[in-house]
Parts: sequence; structure tokens; C-alpha cells
Amino acid sequence: MRFVLDCDTGSDDAIAILAGVGHPGLEPAAVTTVNGNVALEHVTDNTLRALDLAGAGVPVYAGAARPLIRPDLPIPRDVLNKDSAFQQHGLGLPEAVSAVREGHAVPFLVDFFMDAANADATLVATGPLTNIALALALEPRLAERIPRLVLMGGAHGNGNVTAAAEFNFWADPEAAEAVLSTGLPEVVIVPLDATHSAPLTGPDCDELEQLGTPAAAAAAALIRHRLEHDQASPSHEPSTPVHDPMCLAYLVRPDLFTATVRAHVSVETAGARTLGQLLVDTRPWRPEPANATVALQASGTVYRAFLREALGS
Ligand code: RIB
Ligand code: CA
Repeated sequence: MRFVLDCDTGSDDAIAILAGVGHPGLEPAAVTTVNGNVALEHVTDNTLRALDLAGAGVPVYAGAARPLIRPDLPIPRDVLNKDSAFQQHGLGLPEAVSAVREGHAVPFLVDFFMDAANADATLVATGPLTNIALALALEPRLAERIPRLVLMGGAHGNGNVTAAAEFNFWADPEAAEAVLSTGLPEVVIVPLDATHSAPLTGPDCDELEQLGTPAAAAAAALIRHRLEHDQASPSHEPSTPVHDPMCLAYLVRPDLFTATVRAHVSVETAGARTLGQLLVDTRPWRPEPANATVALQASGTVYRAFLREALGS
């Protein structure tokens, strides 16, 4: 399965990269980077480090360094992460030896998906949707040419940055709303509801380490870091959601999601308390037709099997 990954690497994006390169059923065509977990220069550096560790000669294009309209995240990153050691520059991975390609990610995405030879490729997004919104604005025909978008973002229940909003949608709510309202033929949303339903644990890290590959060892270390620093992890039950690799797992294991719903989805761009909230309208009498499939629950068994297969070879 060929795919382009648009990401904001980030520890879970890095695991997605390692898994996307390693899984025998997945073929990364390119990776594009976007401002998100960390500033763009660090996102791109983290991305190159993960790809180098995986031994992949996958082209990387750097994209948007700030949200579509806003000058920074709704709460500037320095303030948001002030007392947190969760985000790392370099991710503890060896320095990159490969280099980012010349040219911006947005025209790359346009050219790639306008090319009929790539009509089989899925676009996977695991960061804020800034690059994709910009690409759709630059070339509106892209809305008919991206055959499938699988993205991590949003929450039907509680968010993680605020009670209402998940990070990727909150970080660039205007971009998320622009992309979801475009009318892409197939959109699959992997929100927190799904990722939090199949968290990973210390014993999962032990199992990954026993696989004996550099990719599995790196993934285990990244998950252990999340276990130590993720506030989502209640202390009495050390487990952590590892969000982004689920998008790639879904490409080869569509049985990953054990509950999904077709709905009309949109993103709040104005609410004082609800900025970035994903609205999942399942009402039978809703005025607008369904424009996405939303995953509500995932199988931990399938997810672990995917990670073992992807990271063990
Ligand atoms: O809310 C989880 C998402 O935000 C993940 O994509 C993670 O990498 C962060 O970007
Ligand atoms: Ca991410």
C-alpha cells in the first residue's frame, strides 16, 4: 500500500515512520513535515532521524512553519510546553545524515496527487492539517485527486489540549475545518477515542525490545519516554496512547477499528472554550451528508500485532 505521510514528528509520528518503513505491506512514497509538536525545523530534523534509523531513502519535503491563519498555536508553544519534558528535540535518535529535499511540501503534494500514476496512494496525516489545506487551496482539483485521506485528529469525547479539543485540530483549527469541508472522496478520522482505547504499556515495550531490531528498540524507547511524561497516563495504570501509527496500521489492518461511525464532521474555529473541537454529527435528520468515517474504538490485539510485524523486520 503506497502512502504519503504528512507529519509533525513528535515521538508517536516517529514510531509511525518506523512502522511505515518497516511493514512489508506498506510503501512510503514521501514524507512531508508541518509545524506541530515542535517547531518545523525540529519536526523536519526528527523526521530525517527516524527515516535514517529505519534505513529508508524516502524523500522528505518541509512544509508550513506556522498555522494557516494564526501566527502561532492558539496558546504559543513556549507557554503550552513550559513545564513539560514530553516533547524532545532529536527524540534521542542518532543525528540525521540525510537531508531534506529542495522545494516546499505543498507544491510537492499538489504535483504528487495530480499525477495519475499516484492515484493508488493514500494520504496519511498525523499532524495539523496546514499543508493539506494549503495544497487544496493552491490546486482545488486536488479534492478529486486525493483518493483517500486517513488522519489522526480530533476527539468525539474529551480532547487532550482542552476538554473539547485534540492537539492536531486545535493547533490549526482553520486548516482542519478547510480540509474536512472540502468534500474529499474518502476521509477516515482516527480521533483520541480510538487511540486511547488501545494504549501501550511497559510490557509492550519489553516485547518490542525482544524483537532485536534497531527500529523496535527505538520505538520501545520512545514509548517508554511517553510512559514517563504523558499526562494522559494515570499513575496507577502506566499506559500511554500511541496515536499516529494507528493510521498506518489501518492501511494494512482495516480490522483495527472495532467501532466506527459515518457522520458529518466539522471543526470549531471560533469557540472561546471549544476552539478546535471536532463535531461528529450522527443525527439521522442532520442537514448535511456524511463526509467522514470516524473510528471510535480500536483493537489492542490488532494494533500490537501490526507493530510487531512492522518493527520486527
Ligand atoms: O493529539 C495527538 C496528536 O498530537 C498526535 O498526532 C501527536 O503527535 C500530536 O501531534
Ligand atoms: Ca503527530
